[in-house]
Amino acid sequence: MIDIHSHILPGLDDGAATIEEAIAMASCAIRDGTKQMVVTPHVKTRTYPSKQTILNTMANLQGVLQEKGIDLVLLGGGEYRIDPELSRQLAKGELLTINDKGRYLLIEFSDVAVPDYTVELFDEIIEQGVIPIIAHPERNSVFIEDHSRLYELLANGALAQLTSGGITGYFGEEIKEASRAFLEKGYVQFVASDAHNRSGQLAQFRPALREVKNLLGEQLGHRILVTNPRKMVRGDLMKANEFMKKVV
Ligand SMILES: [Fe+2]
Repeated sequence: MIDIHSHILPGLDDGAATIEEAIAMASCAIRDGTKQMVVTPHVKTRTYPSKQTILNTMANLQGVLQEKGIDLVLLGGGEYRIDPELSRQLAKGELLTINDKGRYLLIEFSDVAVPDYTVELFDEIIEQGVIPIIAHPERNSVFIEDHSRLYELLANGALAQLTSGGITGYFGEEIKEASRAFLEKGYVQFVASDAHNRSGQLAQFRPALREVKNLLGEQLGHRILVTNPRKMVRGDLMKANEFMKKVV
């Protein structure tokens, strides 16, 4: 399995606070069958970590895991808070796309807003050949209340990633319902742990994957859980869900 969204890098954000916690997270992930993990620390435009800091911290943790015989492969990335500056920073090579392939960029919104400039910003990113991945839309109240706001962005070329805790009910019933609705409407291309520590969402990852297969069936479940993450880390293009439904 490939987990495409995690906060395992120690000391960069509200994820793993120490190298010991990062090691514990890696051990739990391996035990659950995860072989590759994309590191996606929170990045806000004016408060780094920079691309180089992320890569250096990742290389350091990878070395420690190797020494300890923990066979988890780390891949670079970042979870970028939406900001009108993102497209300019991307053009200057300052952002770390998933696995540094220049194809997918993970972007998060606040829990309560979708800025007016989002469509334009996404267009500017897509014009650079990079596909915006919307992190956990099921936790944003605008998307929850009006699914067409999410659909608009997806129809325009973005893709969506749910978090495991949203699917299992870890964040409550409303978010669970939204997760289920987005899955059933074909809005979701990825499911990831968004793990911040050894328990929490990391422990929800396996149950969430089972739930996705129960809901969508073996074939589509396999695409979301296996095929799409593989394409993402390779930087390969993928097609949107052909059955995406327009509005509520
Ligand atoms: Fe995250």
